[in-house]
Amino acid sequence: MADQDRAARIRRLAAERDAVILAHNYQLPEIQEVADHVGDSLALARLAARAEASTIVLAGVYFMAETAKILAPERTVLIPDPRAGCSLADSVTAEQVRAWKDEHPGAAVVAYVNTGADVKAEADVCCTSANAAEIVASIPAEREVLFLPDQFLGAHVRRVTGRANLRVWLGECHVHAGISPEQLRRKAAASPDAELFVHPECGCGTSALWQAGTGDLPGARVLSTGGMLAAARSTQAPAVLVATETGMLHQLRKANPAVRWEPVNPDAVCRYMKMTTPDTLLRCLRDGVTEVHVDPGVAARARRAVEAMLAVGVGASPAGA
Ligand code: 13P
Ligand code: SF4
Repeated sequence: MADQDRAARIRRLAAERDAVILAHNYQLPEIQEVADHVGDSLALARLAARAEASTIVLAGVYFMAETAKILAPERTVLIPDPRAGCSLADSVTAEQVRAWKDEHPGAAVVAYVNTGADVKAEADVCCTSANAAEIVASIPAEREVLFLPDQFLGAHVRRVTGRANLRVWLGECHVHAGISPEQLRRKAAASPDAELFVHPECGCGTSALWQAGTGDLPGARVLSTGGMLAAARSTQAPAVLVATETGMLHQLRKANPAVRWEPVNPDAVCRYMKMTTPDTLLRCLRDGVTEVHVDPGVAARARRAVEAMLAVGVGASPAGA
């Protein structure tokens, strides 16, 4: 089937099923183009919470579909490929969080949305890369904070908030941890006119800010994927180096075609995000598979943490610095 026919069929099936298609910024370009909305984790959570369609198709990874189900329990939530996991979400279990809490009674637990529903259920509040610093800053300064699971985002939040009583879990995303300071140095040297957008999950984030401070980079901004898109529209730089998953380049190039957009690491590809293909999306809409379920008791506890995040009402996009 030609690409255009397939896209038309997807749109027809979505209408017949009364489904809204929400796609993450790292999805394949052809999925982003056929979706109703494309956004970062925070935007997708907000869209799911106020969805009017009876079915939400989450073109992203499993924790995103679970978050949609937690926020819209009365809706049918479908994911095109249920094997679309997340190495970062897998780096902490609910049992480990309970043990960590026992070691630090009274501490507030802040869980990145890149976690399973059972981990969210152990948290006081969730955050995304778009609002992590603001969420932590909303917790009384004297209260200890347990931040999980991403060590690089945690280090970024500590830097932005200046908070010494923030303990950080040592998890990481294999894609972002693989974007190294060395690759960044090489790219920056080859493109001296380029600005840098860096996702806070990146292993090169600290070194990027240091290089910006020493003048080796004209500008480095730590941004969520949604924050990158907002910044793309106003940048004056002729070129921007992008330190995140390469799917992001599609929206950036559309937002500002005059800029030369270059990945810091062209191999930074999340295989889980790429499990949604036009074929799996078509099958999902045609056969109503795979439906996402979250245990109602777990969902109720996790909902408190996700809604506490949404109530803080921050994170229009930029992640902080
Ligand atoms: P954003 O919240 O910036 O969309 O990031 C989600 C993610 O999975 C990053 O790897
Ligand atoms: Fe998870 Fe990393 Fe993929 Fe994002 S890029 S979904 S954090 S494995």
